[in-house]
Amino acid sequence: MSFPLVRMRRLRRTAAMRNMLQRVKIHPSNLVCPIFVDENAKVPISITVMPDYYRFPIQQVVDEVKQAVEQGIKAVILFGVPSKKDETGSSAFAEDGVVQEAIRKLKKEFSDELVIMADACLCEYTTHGHCGIVKNGEVMNDLTLEILQKVAVSQAQAGADIVAPSGMMDGQVRFIREALDDAGFDEVAIMAYSAKYASSFYGPFREATECAPKFGSRKSYQMGYGNPNEALREMEIDVNEGADMIMVKPALAYLDIMYLAKSKFNVPVAAYSVSGEYAMVKAAAKNGWIDEKAVVLELLTAIKRAGSDLIITYFAKDVKSWLSQI
Ligand code: PBG
Repeated sequence: MSFPLVRMRRLRRTAAMRNMLQRVKIHPSNLVCPIFVDENAKVPISITVMPDYYRFPIQQVVDEVKQAVEQGIKAVILFGVPSKKDETGSSAFAEDGVVQEAIRKLKKEFSDELVIMADACLCEYTTHGHCGIVKNGEVMNDLTLEILQKVAVSQAQAGADIVAPSGMMDGQVRFIREALDDAGFDEVAIMAYSAKYASSFYGPFREATECAPKFGSRKSYQMGYGNPNEALREMEIDVNEGADMIMVKPALAYLDIMYLAKSKFNVPVAAYSVSGEYAMVKAAAKNGWIDEKAVVLELLTAIKRAGSDLIITYFAKDVKSWLSQI
């Protein structure tokens, strides 16, 4: 035989060899753990549509996050379930709001050992469930920007390291940056939910935080999934407005967008593997149809391989022990 066989399997022979050559590796320090804080809860409330996930009372948030930190997690993102909702979502920027209280407790306990992110949006706080102020059945972009400024500043005042506007209002990054700087928080970063799609994968989250819109949909402000160029435009605008990081959300059905994001922009790219992705894996695993641990590690690796620097995932706390088992 004139040409030798190319034996690709030589480098796959042993686990040590495979490990040595694995370029894309999941590490808990690149994961962000979402935490749901419930102002009314006295004990953790299990979320039926997100098996093994809970809404925590403010008093128990520190304990829950301690467990995550023990699992190598260095970052959390907080979502609030307030006791009071109104038309303008005013409890989203209350000094004693549910997220603000939780941030204060976490900052006191963990100081700079933990990155505290806060989702800045109104949908969990408004009676109509939309991400902005509603007038005559429409979500009003510019009126909402002023509220988002208050939300971001109140979160920064409480001690958030990063605010993450997720309402897909035009100009939200610029307005929030200005407000943070004016209030003396020029060191607080913005992680923009830039490429956020109007996705059916958010269903379980909306049930978990009781934020489903009471009328219409979010399609007039979140992106449609058929047009990748629009995502590039959104990301470009956010970077120009001063976003320190950009996000692609959901993750699994949008790996191409993540790849584009990483190739086009020189800022960290976050991926949000959302509630529906979590629920799908859990449902199949609970039926014994897939191996949860193996599937999650494969999926997270794919999300990283596509270009994300950090991943928000409801599996964050499990990863360390799973990695040690493979
Ligand atoms: C708030 C917000 C949503 C999610 C994160 N922030 C809901 C939505 O936009 O409808 C979804 C997260 C998930 O599904 O895990 N705007």
